[in-house]
Amino acid sequence: MTFSPELEAKFAKMIQNYPAGRQKGALIPMLLFAQDEVGSMTPELLEEVSKRLKVKRVEIEEVIGYYTMLTREPRGQHHVQICTNVSCMLTGGEELYQHACKKLGIGNKQKTADGQFSLEEVECLGACSWAPAMLIDYDFHFNVTPEKLDGLIESLKKTQ
Ligand code: FES
Repeated sequence: MTFSPELEAKFAKMIQNYPAGRQKGALIPMLLFAQDEVGSMTPELLEEVSKRLKVKRVEIEEVIGYYTMLTREPRGQHHVQICTNVSCMLTGGEELYQHACKKLGIGNKQKTADGQFSLEEVECLGACSWAPAMLIDYDFHFNVTPEKLDGLIESLKKTQ
């Protein structure tokens, strides 16, 4: 499997940050960057990363099973994650999540028909002091209201 020249350059630079024999430490960032390009954890991607980092395939499967940001299902172009854990639940996170379901017309771990958005209800994002919190791709958003969420979604639609 080959990646884009940009991603290959990123991998080459990243690997240099790890001491000899410790390149296995690059597993999670390598999986994340590869997923961004490929769209999901495909068998080919796993095989390639396994080969490059000399990590057993079963170890990669364990990592994917643990970290929710790694997925086997292709996501939308923009992945919306809304926290409904305690702090967020108490400050409107559940209502925000329901609003997002209606706004996007999809449910948990689903993708819009045009492939532009996917939605996921998630556990604590570590931003409890600014609840309710959500992530769109790698960007955190705090003290989110339904109106703010609508604005974020609409502005992303316009950039397409
Ligand atoms: S409970 Fe939502 S960020 Fe912690």
